[in-house]
Amino acid sequence: MQENNQKEQKCCCGEEKKDKFLEELFSTYKPIKDNLIQMLNEIQEHYGYVPMWVQKELSEFLSVPMAEIYGVVTFYSRFSLKPKGKYNISVCLGTACFVKGSQKIMDRLLERLKIQPGETTPDGKFSIEETRCVGACGLAPVFTINGEVYGKATVQKLDQVLDELMK
Ligand code: FES
Repeated sequence: MQENNQKEQKCCCGEEKKDKFLEELFSTYKPIKDNLIQMLNEIQEHYGYVPMWVQKELSEFLSVPMAEIYGVVTFYSRFSLKPKGKYNISVCLGTACFVKGSQKIMDRLLERLKIQPGETTPDGKFSIEETRCVGACGLAPVFTINGEVYGKATVQKLDQVLDELMK
């Protein structure tokens, strides 16, 4: 009988748990609460989001309640509970951008991608987020794609960029 040397198991939610990345992560960090944010950063970067099953594993490893981890993940916008698209497009709806028309840019984005903020297109290519000021008010209105700022944005500029990315 072939021995299964992988430590993956099915979690109660049906998702896989304890993959190689997590094992390495848990062997790199000490199991103390102070490491929570840094570990979440690495998890977000690796998976593109912070899956619930990973939160459970982290909760056990750090002896921090799930509710607290969930609270941190939902508090900081850099963490996500759902996978983001290959191109994560954020439209700034902060005051400076809003008064310069960023809602029109958001409306156009929703119309073209046919998803809502917080969602990802079925092909995994695009996701949309709303943000409140990315510190580039002088360039308002602003949208970002994977963190790259597109300032003095217009609907036409958005269309151009989307056309390019959709090729
Ligand atoms: S309000 Fe949009 S960058 Fe500041």
